[in-house]
Amino acid sequence: MAGGKGKLEKFAELGQMPHVFQNFDYKQPQLLGANGPVELKGKWNELVFKNGKPIVLELACGRGEYSVSLGQQFPENNYIGIDIKGNRMYTGAMHALELGLTNVAFLRTRIELLERFFAPEEVGAIWITFPDPHLKKGAEKNRLTAPKFIELYRNVAKHAAIVHHKTDDPILHEWSAETCAQLGLPILERNDDIYKNGRPEGPLGIKTYYEGLNISGSNTAMYLQFALH
Ligand SMILES: C[S@@+](CC[C@H](N)C(=O)[O-])C[C@H]1O[C@@H](n2cnc3c(N)ncnc32)[C@H](O)[C@@H]1O
Repeated sequence: MAGGKGKLEKFAELGQMPHVFQNFDYKQPQLLGANGPVELKGKWNELVFKNGKPIVLELACGRGEYSVSLGQQFPENNYIGIDIKGNRMYTGAMHALELGLTNVAFLRTRIELLERFFAPEEVGAIWITFPDPHLKKGAEKNRLTAPKFIELYRNVAKHAAIVHHKTDDPILHEWSAETCAQLGLPILERNDDIYKNGRPEGPLGIKTYYEGLNISGSNTAMYLQFALH
């Protein structure tokens, strides 16, 4: 198990995992897999999953609870957890290996580089799970639902792709809904308190590490589902 391992040991193991791909250079981005450099843009299904199932991204995946749980619940999809922090990703990557999931992979990079690693229309859906709320004045542009990120998602997602946004922060939740309205993106579902009627079944009931920390103090989670076109 992962317990007790240091960061360096985890990083070394991460680099050897067949379903983990990492970029260490933001100026000349290049993916490194267990077998060396690899070009996956437009080829995730062909080279990694070896099937034609829809690709679902989990952005800001942290320990990848959504990628792993959704991968288990929905074998008809392929899941890729994306985060910049390798030690968090290690937990999810190990978990997927232990469970023998062949439809779950991890990509360590900055989300800003999404277009470097995915071709237009390669992505079928996106989950954004408990992203940093960036509450300081002027920091809104860094939110993963800011217009510049939405534009990125539109450039790699299928026309019908939807985004699932889950947060415990009411300010971010409201701001994201307002941003959708400003951009003319249809909101398909909005839930301001997913625990009002008990723990939801299915994907919404998956609990992540950061949700458990309850940093915002809201004691609940909020959900927004919107279309990218
Ligand atoms: C608050 S944590 C949430 C992690 C996880 N989804 C959870 O709920 O436990 C936010 C995550 O976003 C990642 N992150 C923030 N900005 C990022 C960026 N621009 N590119 C990639 N990862 C990013 C951080 O490394 C961190 O793991």
